[in-house]
Amino acid sequence: MQDKKLDILILGGAGRLASSLASAWEKKHNVTTLSRTQLDIGNPHQLESALDQRPFDILVNGAAFTNVDLCETERETARLINATAVGQMAKIASKRAARLIHFSTDYVFDGSLPRPLTEEDIPTPASWYGKTKLEGEELVLSTDPRHIAVRVSWVFGPAKPSFIDAILKRARTESHVEAVNDKFSSPTYAEDCAEWLAPFLQPSSNGGLYHACNSGSCSWREYGAKALELAAAAGIPLATTEVGGITLAHMKQFVAPRPVYTLLDTSKLARTTGITPRPWETALKDYIQTHHASLSSAS
Ligand SMILES: NC(=O)c1ccc[n+]([C@@H]2O[C@H](COP(=O)([O-])OP(=O)(O)OC[C@H]3O[C@@H](n4cnc5c(N)ncnc54)[C@H](OP(=O)(O)O)[C@@H]3O)[C@@H](O)[C@H]2O)c1
Repeated sequence: MQDKKLDILILGGAGRLASSLASAWEKKHNVTTLSRTQLDIGNPHQLESALDQRPFDILVNGAAFTNVDLCETERETARLINATAVGQMAKIASKRAARLIHFSTDYVFDGSLPRPLTEEDIPTPASWYGKTKLEGEELVLSTDPRHIAVRVSWVFGPAKPSFIDAILKRARTESHVEAVNDKFSSPTYAEDCAEWLAPFLQPSSNGGLYHACNSGSCSWREYGAKALELAAAAGIPLATTEVGGITLAHMKQFVAPRPVYTLLDTSKLARTTGITPRPWETALKDYIQTHHASLSSAS
């Protein structure tokens, strides 16, 4: 049976994750995106009126105050965007009998448990960003059991540069690049995330909290080194394919504390959807071949 065509409204629509969800889901559904310039979710009147004016079966929140260091100093704004506005969305969606799909982060954990983290593990965020994101997901989950909060980690995708694009850019011209070698997690390919979450577009699917990222784990250094290896294999000219290691303690510019080990266990997602995320290396290879090698050969 053909799935029903749904009205999906995506906020923070120009973001890395939101853009990939929109491009994937608009093939089957009526997708509307609102970017920050069209709607500031931190303005409660604007938020209410923007949602009042549009039909939606599914509301997706891709908007967040994601600058982890700035969150430490702009605490009120971080709480407004990452928690208060999210609570308002959750209530409005619930009143409209719509499902909210909201995104959270591995930074709700302090990184001290040396094993993959499940949805049952107690979050103890070390940063203000992590604290406000935890408040946001709690507001979502306590408002309506149909709503979904999805924790992701190290998101990469074509809409907006991330760590991986930055290291590739540097390695094109610099003969020495380095990255942190004592912080571990798993990357999340935004385009894969659209596929993992598609089952939750069906109203009969279960709400709740889910961990979603590609499988396997790595340090930032290993992640960067794999990107350079794959880029070189795809024919992208590089000044180096080596990534030197530095420690987190070396990163004096970091204001917020970063968790050291936050690998998310995705077995609940796999049990619920029947989808096991592919290894991060395979997803990264796809990304580099599709979005970097083609650009490189065009230039
Ligand atoms: N990126 C990661 O590695 C990572 C890791 C773990 C969890 N997450 C979570 O994943 C979700 C998506 O992240 P992402 O990587 O897609 O981040 P992103 O590319 O920075 O997207 C966030 C979007 O929110 C928008 N935004 C910020 N403040 C807003 C406001 N007041 N009103 C409306 N829109 C606003 C931003 O607009 P501007 O660009 O104009 O500011 C941006 O387009 C977030 O919930 C984030 O916490 C991300």
